Amino acid sequence: MSEGRVPKEGELIIQDFLPELKGSHLADSIVEGLLKEPKEIPSMFFYDERGSKLYEMITELPEYYPPKLEKRLIAMAADAMAHGLRGHDIVELGSGDCSKISILLGRVPAEDIPTLRYVPVDFSRSAVEESAAELRRRFPGMDIHGIVGDFLSHLDCVPDGRRRLLVFFGSTIGNLEREKAYDFFQELAQVLRPGDEMLLGVDMVKDAAVMEEAYNDSQGVTAEFNRNIVNVVNRMIGSQLDPGMFEHVAFFNPEESRIEMHLRALAPATVRVEGLEAPIEIQEGEMIHTENSYKFTPEQVQGMIEGVGLSVRESHSDERGWFSLLRLGA
Ligand code: AVJ
Repeated sequence: MSEGRVPKEGELIIQDFLPELKGSHLADSIVEGLLKEPKEIPSMFFYDERGSKLYEMITELPEYYPPKLEKRLIAMAADAMAHGLRGHDIVELGSGDCSKISILLGRVPAEDIPTLRYVPVDFSRSAVEESAAELRRRFPGMDIHGIVGDFLSHLDCVPDGRRRLLVFFGSTIGNLEREKAYDFFQELAQVLRPGDEMLLGVDMVKDAAVMEEAYNDSQGVTAEFNRNIVNVVNRMIGSQLDPGMFEHVAFFNPEESRIEMHLRALAPATVRVEGLEAPIEIQEGEMIHTENSYKFTPEQVQGMIEGVGLSVRESHSDERGWFSLLRLGA
């Protein structure tokens, strides 16, 4: 830093869109799912404060391979990218904790850090607040503009005007139904202008046993994560379901090429919802579908990218081809 220059105090803004979504729309989407046959709960409801903590614990489990592989790949990509990021907005969808973006930021030259703006978008307010606080400490001078909300509906809130690097790590795109994933990817591609880039992490199809173990860890953390969604449901719709009455079920569905997570009711239960004429009955043994985690073949990934007119600038994968990180250009 040149003499006499006052270090820039990075700007910190956190925009919270949940209050305006809350009550009405969010609770409705839960009730809607419970009225379906078979019942389902949208997977974004995993991530309250406790759920986000449990997910962080999942990422440290020996069986849960994606974050370990992806972090290695991010480090590889970062070496090639870190010097070209001056003046960028770095927008991270489903940012969670800041461990992945920190790998990239850690390789950016110190004098470039204050030229950056980091825009984490996450459903968990605590995750956005905590990662903003930690990144301020580690990367002083960088602007941070956090967005608390569902990244599917808040893409238009992403600040405009500067070059962008959009990052979508963790194979979060795999949580969307195939068609939804494609549509969303199309939207993402439209956000990008010439010169902008995207980093996309995708979990690939592999031996079913490896994938099933990753979602059935021996310490039962994933089971606890799955059951925690019941606490969120209780808070959102005023129900009083006991998370302990559900059993964690996770398996690979080869026809759909996805890991499915369900909660199996060990006892019958009744959910009374305000404004609903009849209560919702849960039968003993009934399964509530809580998550899909689609796994991709290289052809599917390529098809998706080409389909929206993006180009692959760089592609990183581990030796076994279990996980891929793609650097895409508009
Ligand atoms: C955060 C969506 C990437 O699908 O693997 C981990 C969530 N669920 N263990 C995934 C999750 C169960 C995870 N993603």
